[in-house]
Amino acid sequence: MGIQIAPSILAADFANLERDILAVDNADWLHVDVMDAHFVPNLTLGLPVVERIAQIAPMPVDTHLMIEDPDHWAPQYAEAGAASVTFHLEAARDPVAIARDLRRLGARASVAIKPGTAVDPLLDVLTEFDMVLVMTVEPGFGGQDFMPDMLPKLRTLREAAAERDHDLWLQADGGIARDTIAEASAAGCSVFVAGSAVYGADDRRAEIEELRRIAREAHGDG
Ligand code: DX5
Ligand code: ZN
Repeated sequence: MGIQIAPSILAADFANLERDILAVDNADWLHVDVMDAHFVPNLTLGLPVVERIAQIAPMPVDTHLMIEDPDHWAPQYAEAGAASVTFHLEAARDPVAIARDLRRLGARASVAIKPGTAVDPLLDVLTEFDMVLVMTVEPGFGGQDFMPDMLPKLRTLREAAAERDHDLWLQADGGIARDTIAEASAAGCSVFVAGSAVYGADDRRAEIEELRRIAREAHGDG
């Protein structure tokens, strides 16, 4: 799989979600941030909204669950129609069991780590996951600065996946824009979340194409 762009609707107009989803219809995924005001100090939306978004979105839905008790909740997002479900390692009791549940329900199973969380505990169970999300800001809010200190995590995961001959996607989320996407891509990331960079642009479709172009160039796959 090549470079993929996932606009985050956290930066969209929540009173005009359908309009703002259709405005990015050249994206590979739609990134939906679910926050519960406990795991992170912010509150967004939940299952009924994700279910409707999955019905109307022209692209597959990539849910990023910044919530407590993903062991209970994550499978329900797969049932609601999310094609990819990412839960946080820090909140999970049994990450492998969650991933197996998600795959059984036909979703891509993905795990996220906050900036302060090391990749090491994931390496032994890497093949249980289809994607790892490396947070490049503290989760909770859009519009923060990209943390370049997170790049070594991407490199470590990329190498570990190659050693295991595992087709693992790496996603970076937070502060991804024209000036940061190249270094994340060069470090092995291939799925890029972009909230303010896409929704803050006058021409959102053109911004997605531009991000894709820069990431491809840095990745060396044309
Ligand atoms: C933050 C969210 C991100 C957010 C990214 O916790 O997970 O998906 O929307 O926003 P930007 O791209 O503006 O950093
Ligand atoms: Zn996110």
